[in-house]
Amino acid sequence: MIIHENFDVNEKGHLTIGDADAVELAEKFGTPAYILDENTIRKNCRTYLRAATEYFGADALPLYASKALCFTGIYKIAAEEGLGVDCVSGGEIFTAKKAGFPAEKIYFHGNNKTNRDIKDALDAGVGTFVVDNEDELEALSAEAVRRGITQRILLRITPGIDPHTHRAVVTGNVDSKFGSAIVTGQAMEIVKKALSADGIRLAGLHCHIGSQIFDIDPFSDAASIMVKFIAEIKEKCGYEIDELNLGGGLGVRYTEYDREIDYAEAIKDIAAVVTDFCKEHRIKMPKIILEPGRSLVAAAGATLYTVGSVKEIPGFKNYISVDGGMPDNPRYALYQSQYTALIANRADAPRGYRATVAGRCCESGDLLGENMEIQKAERGDILAVLVTGAYNYSMASNYNRIPRPPIIMIKDGEPRIAVRRETYEDLTANDVI
Ligand code: LLP
Repeated sequence: MIIHENFDVNEKGHLTIGDADAVELAEKFGTPAYILDENTIRKNCRTYLRAATEYFGADALPLYASKALCFTGIYKIAAEEGLGVDCVSGGEIFTAKKAGFPAEKIYFHGNNKTNRDIKDALDAGVGTFVVDNEDELEALSAEAVRRGITQRILLRITPGIDPHTHRAVVTGNVDSKFGSAIVTGQAMEIVKKALSADGIRLAGLHCHIGSQIFDIDPFSDAASIMVKFIAEIKEKCGYEIDELNLGGGLGVRYTEYDREIDYAEAIKDIAAVVTDFCKEHRIKMPKIILEPGRSLVAAAGATLYTVGSVKEIPGFKNYISVDGGMPDNPRYALYQSQYTALIANRADAPRGYRATVAGRCCESGDLLGENMEIQKAERGDILAVLVTGAYNYSMASNYNRIPRPPIIMIKDGEPRIAVRRETYEDLTANDVI
């Protein structure tokens, strides 16, 4: 096992991903390629569903936050595993519907839904809007009235929590662009507006404090603040909230320096706090929704590259350049995210060499990691970056007109193409003049 149990080394000394030989995958499908182990994703879905229903009650539901990795096949898995999904754009909703995902189990997020988004989502029959602000509430109410329907909503609330993660992925603080803050009184104001708005049924509240969080306390703190707020709504408005969505954000182990989280235990701990607070504040336990993205898909993925140039700058550093980079994984450039890299065709050799792994773009910041512990490499080696299942393909670009890699899904050790490699023709398909 390397970092996660779906990564291992076989008798040839090759990296295996979900029991498939990474070197054979690179030969068969070319590089760069995203590899995704379906069994790991399904196992993670089951862990969440089982723990949520066991500790929060039979009606609890995990949603897959599909911004983490979005293509039709992943919505089919979410549907088969009995999860709902969080979509954050018309494009994600379209993809979910195309995969046959049941619209009533879609939660539609976003801090700036356009009028077109609102219309498209209503046309698609999206079950729940997570309304971010008063402008959206008014626009949605007007459109629902025009259609003669009542739309189920949650309100996004900012509990005022600092979860100690990268500042770009913090979302639950008072000055966040998302939601309405409790401490400023704006949360109570929007609750009252939602209760009196035509065409709207307020089913519950939502909060999401951030991403890649290892400490359970910020989740428990946010949950307790939300429960207290539900009690306040009951007292001031005489209205009992049915549903509480606690968001996503549990961290994932990317390197051996990261802890591993037991997700079932984490859910159990948060559930204990919610149950106690509900009793203390004499409110019924709401239906609990969880919204994991990264922790469902990250560990299932790895990206395979072919090593091109290897450069040693004496007294400075070593570079290993690969045939991908920031277009397929912008996370180091954006957040200095740490990854584990290894040479897949010598995966059993010690990682005793230090190198900066660079991409192929015309830009010095195009790196997959600096000072990485890896094996010595030479041109033609297959380099694997592990734990790339989340926020890689979904954040990929065509910078330098580089086509996006394919997604190869492994099921019980057998590979199949889930998303085909982009072609140069794809790259020019929208160019009109
Ligand atoms: N729910 C909401 C409302 C969210 O905004 C997010 C993530 C999630 C759930 C899922 O969070 P997760 O379980 O994946 O942590 N691009 C960044 C991550 C941005 C997260 C955005 N929101 C990265 O690559 O680290």
